[in-house]
Amino acid sequence: MERPLADEARALIASARLLLEDFIEEGVHSFERAVPTADTTAMHAERARSKPLETAREPVRTAAPPASGIASATPSVELPDEIVWSAQPTLEEVRNELGECTRCGLAVGRNRIVFGDGNPEADLMFVGEGPGQEEDRRGLPFVGKAGELLTQMIEKGLETPRSDVYICNIVKCRPPNNRTPLEAEIASCRPFLDAQIAAVKPKVIVALGKPASSLLLGRDVAITRIRGNWFEYRGIPLMPTLHPAYILRQYTPENRRHVWEDLKAALARSRE
Ligand code: URA
Repeated sequence: MERPLADEARALIASARLLLEDFIEEGVHSFERAVPTADTTAMHAERARSKPLETAREPVRTAAPPASGIASATPSVELPDEIVWSAQPTLEEVRNELGECTRCGLAVGRNRIVFGDGNPEADLMFVGEGPGQEEDRRGLPFVGKAGELLTQMIEKGLETPRSDVYICNIVKCRPPNNRTPLEAEIASCRPFLDAQIAAVKPKVIVALGKPASSLLLGRDVAITRIRGNWFEYRGIPLMPTLHPAYILRQYTPENRRHVWEDLKAALARSRE
């Protein structure tokens, strides 16, 4: 049966909004004129149908949902078996369970697994996207250029030693050419992130950038729109903020102020 015109229009408008949000986040301010084709129109309408815009703040789902809003493809991925953790896993147990992981295709290109770094009992936990080149070389999260900025923000800005907080990523292996991790790769790694969170039991989680925020909020988010607001992940207050790599690309006083405000709010809440 034909869908009513109004539904079709709504789907197209939602699709256009999603695209614009993505462009804004990438710092795109102008385009060359392109001629739309029937194929692209149908593709965008399909995208909007499968990912309706959600404006209300929702409680996050507790079961592992697919990582909506994250690039998807069909790499060879072993979907995680259900892992039975002890009631209160330790980071060591989680790391042991991860082992020399080959659950997804990222294993092939990595040098080292980048599990996490910092205080296993941290009040403040940072979750980024995935290791870059330097992280892959050293086996530590956020030690490249973006990591230097994050470390500076924590140490100089928040006047907190980096070793006091816990830092990890949504995927533990470097994606080729630093591309955004694919949905299946994120799904494969997610049980380990969840278990890290359960082990550390932080008072506050800071989600760095769109992929981490989208994953932890269970929906595709526009980071520039939602940053600075409080959400929850499994009962833990969650502050989404701009990724330090984005700040490096868009080094504006406004972006720096935004992250600074978000981090200050996160630190203050973790001390309540
Ligand atoms: N380094 C990381 O460990 N994670 C990121 O998301 C970016 C750089």
